[in-house]
Amino acid sequence: MNNVVYFDNAATTFPKPENVYTFSDSFFRGCGVNVGRGQYKLADKAAALVVETRKLLLELNHCPEKQVVFTPTSTIALNTVLRGINLTDGSNIYVTPFEHNAVMRVLHHIAKTVKINIKQLEFDKNSVSYDLEKIKYQFADNPPNLVVMTHASNVCGVIAPILEISQLAKKNNAVTVADMCQTMGLVDTDISSIDYAKNAVDKSEKERATVIISEAFVDISSEL
Ligand SMILES: Cc1ncc(COP(=O)(O)O)c(C=O)c1O
Repeated sequence: MNNVVYFDNAATTFPKPENVYTFSDSFFRGCGVNVGRGQYKLADKAAALVVETRKLLLELNHCPEKQVVFTPTSTIALNTVLRGINLTDGSNIYVTPFEHNAVMRVLHHIAKTVKINIKQLEFDKNSVSYDLEKIKYQFADNPPNLVVMTHASNVCGVIAPILEISQLAKKNNAVTVADMCQTMGLVDTDISSIDYAKNAVDKSEKERATVIISEAFVDISSEL
């Protein structure tokens, strides 16, 4: 490892912080058992850990009223969320210019059966920033039904003003999704106004993905 120079950290952190290795090791040796499938001391201990993790994630993201769902990967989380949203012919879907394949492939798959319009949020290439004024006009011309925003591009590092865009989207009652693979826990963000926010913890520190869901979508979350 000493003679390796790793340049892919924006995609997946490596090596992980030391406490990730020590915690994972002691967890799998100490109480890596089923949660919610049995009633014995170890299962209770593992369940308490899951409850605590959910609480900590909500605290970290300043949204105590939301729900947390764990998924094996971020791609699975995005497939589940995007394919669970009721999109109909004519629905306007806005994305940033920096969406991951895990978003775009799902949307293009949906577009094969539903006539959705996929549009890009206005982005000024010269200043490398989102043009909120123009986005306001975009939404007025073609009201959004769904807005999907990669919070930070791991190609150029630009951070999207997801709260401001979400506020504009909410004037049209659009559903908002924030892909926070690169930012959750690193860029302090109050996500209480975002409907679905997800991270992929391998991008930051661990090996699972998390979706944080609004109270309004709790029926969906109970099926995840
Ligand atoms: C912004 C973004 N979204 C989604 C994904 C997909 O994550 P996963 O590999 O956990 O499915 C990645 C992974 O690189 C990503 O960077």
